Amino acid sequence: MGDFFNSGWSWAVAIVSVVSILACAVLLWLAGKAKVSAAALARGDNTTGHVWDEDLREYNNPLPRWWMWLFILTVVFALVYLAFYPGLGSYPGMGQWSQQGQHRSDAQRMRAELAPLYARFTATPVDQLSQDRQALAIGQRHFMNHCAQCHGSDARGSKGYPDLTQGQSAWLGPLSGEHIVRTISQGRQGVMPAMGSAIGGEAAISDLAHYVLSLSGSPHNEIKAFSGKKHYAACAACHGADGKGNKALGAPNLADNYWLHGWGEAAIVSIIKNGKSNVMPAQSGWLSPEQIHVLAAYVLSLSGPAPAAVGSIALPARTP
Ligand code: HEC
Ligand code: HEC
Repeated sequence: MGDFFNSGWSWAVAIVSVVSILACAVLLWLAGKAKVSAAALARGDNTTGHVWDEDLREYNNPLPRWWMWLFILTVVFALVYLAFYPGLGSYPGMGQWSQQGQHRSDAQRMRAELAPLYARFTATPVDQLSQDRQALAIGQRHFMNHCAQCHGSDARGSKGYPDLTQGQSAWLGPLSGEHIVRTISQGRQGVMPAMGSAIGGEAAISDLAHYVLSLSGSPHNEIKAFSGKKHYAACAACHGADGKGNKALGAPNLADNYWLHGWGEAAIVSIIKNGKSNVMPAQSGWLSPEQIHVLAAYVLSLSGPAPAAVGSIALPARTP
């Protein structure tokens, strides 16, 4: 049924198209039949005999033949076109051409063209590929199309969406090709349980938040942090006794200055009370394993050692 939600529209479009083409043909025919009046012929001044405003006359200058034929050709072309290509409402045309079909065959051709290139990329481990200028250029395109809406076009993320340029200590998981490939293909769900009731009242939670701030040397109230320290035992299982996090659990480092979910007492109190569930959707539905491999190399290059060969590609500036 194509794009029409009601077959009446399909008929309306078909009828309007055919009627307007036929009307053009009739107009051509009528114009060709128009005769010069006998009086004008007798006068012999090459006018049609029409007179307006007493003295305005219409010259009888017929269209050149070739021009006429062009008009006739456009009418014939329109009818043949409508017979072969979709245009008459939902009639698919004898040629069975469709935008989707065209796109499918273009995509197939491109995939076949790129296959040898991707075969070379896939044979190279992600770490090594993150030095390959061509792979990075392709990876960057994929990143813009599939990742930038959440992680930003410079990969620096925003609240809740990780900055992928911060390097090892800020990452939720290990900074490795394997972790990146797994995250892209399967997505990830970071879950921190709500801990409010385990800690106690408002005052205890606020004290604990100040202790958490002290771990990264952020501005905090010393006295509150001192009394909050004892409550931290409940957090250590995941975030580590020193607050440096646990990459196997995806528990972030609380002792650095990178805050995925916002900085300051209010943000930390809210996380302790409500917990957090943060989801990245799996991307394997629309990206092939080969494309994910190349993307992973690009993402790795954003935090890894500066790729020697990158040269002219404008990669986002990275922070040490
Ligand atoms: C719909 C939004 C969204 C899209 C699209 C998205 N991501 Fe994510 N991504 C997230 C969120 C949210 C997280 C953090 C999940 C968590 O807190 O555990 C994340 C986490 C990650 C991580 C793990 C970072 C770490 O610190 O361990 C990587 C790597 C990553 N994304 C790469 C990508 C790549 C590459 C793409 C494009 C193929 C992509 N993401 C597309 C939302 C998204
Ligand atoms: C069961 C493991 C677990 C426990 C226990 C836990 N957390 Fe978390 N926490 C996490 C995970 C996982 C995340 C990251 C959620 C995500 O992926 O976005 C997180 C995130 C955080 C964040 C946000 C960090 C940022 O960069 O924005 C803070 C702050 C935090 N936790 C503090 C605490 C405190 C304080 C406690 C103790 C009351 C605690 N957590 C207990 C697992 C835990």
